Amino acid sequence: MNLRDYLAVQQHLVDAELDRLTPPETTPPATIHRAMRYSLFAGGKRIRPVLCLEAARTVAGEVEGAVTAACPLELIHTYSLIHDDLPALDNDDYRRGKLTNHKVFGDAMAILAGDALLTLAFQVLAELPAPADRKVRLMAELATASGTVGGMIGGQVADLEGEGKPPDAALLESIHRAKTGALLRASLRMGAIYAGATDAQYAALSCYGEHIGLAFQIVDDILDVEESSEALGKTAGKDAAQHKITFPAVYGLEVSRTMAEAECARAHQVLEPFGERAARLHELADLIVRRKS
Ligand code: IPE
Ligand code: IPE
Ligand code: MG
Ligand code: MG
Ligand code: MG
Repeated sequence: MNLRDYLAVQQHLVDAELDRLTPPETTPPATIHRAMRYSLFAGGKRIRPVLCLEAARTVAGEVEGAVTAACPLELIHTYSLIHDDLPALDNDDYRRGKLTNHKVFGDAMAILAGDALLTLAFQVLAELPAPADRKVRLMAELATASGTVGGMIGGQVADLEGEGKPPDAALLESIHRAKTGALLRASLRMGAIYAGATDAQYAALSCYGEHIGLAFQIVDDILDVEESSEALGKTAGKDAAQHKITFPAVYGLEVSRTMAEAECARAHQVLEPFGERAARLHELADLIVRRKS
């Protein structure tokens, strides 16, 4: 199957499971469920759950229930985007090609929809039909990657506090590793844990996740400069307007592109022990660097 068809199948799998896990729009209080579903089904690429599923496959082939274990990553990611777009954070009007959550449902409901997706993520993990010790490890990975110390929230704090500061290479890398890299790395780690990886397999997948995680945000920064709002489904050119610390701001576009390629090359290298089993992960690394949205 070519990559495009493979991705369509994976996205369909993830969408169906997210639909099953999220309360229907008609369940009271209906407004919050409408708000959650509005952003959840707005057309995200589903890259995090797909990476999780593929990590599990790389370790152990098709593992029953892996798609359920992968969905909390998308729930957390979508919550982080809803909050990232709020007027108090990046103040964005468009996301995934649609009006942002707060533009449709108001700030209060958008905050609550983010809170609700975050809470649901851990409920899903708690209710997984898997051994308790494995579930505890999954929860710890997701919580740490989303948290304040080297995780998504910590990165968001540094990103906001960095606005207008002089571009600084060390600060830049730590922001990107935390705000985006941590959750992407957790995607690989969670797939590995769910599939019962050995320590060596976990370490290799984790290392791959770290490299593609950094590459992902470098490319996000490049796309913000190079692409149109239509192509991105979100407002282009916002980073410069908000004086964000980004790779293009610190290194320029060409060097940024080279750095993303270098991370990608390292990601390929650490997959070597898996041989052919990691074929899709190789393709996903290339996709992350070559994507246009
Ligand atoms: C956008 O993430 C925000 C970042 C962390 C850079 P994605 O590019 O994965 O967004 P969706 O989920 O496809 O909308
Ligand atoms: C967001 O980074 C990372 C998150 C944790 C949501 P950005 O602010 O660059 O993401 P976009 O460009 O709005 O998607
Ligand atoms: Mg932001
Ligand atoms: Mg933003
Ligand atoms: Mg961005």
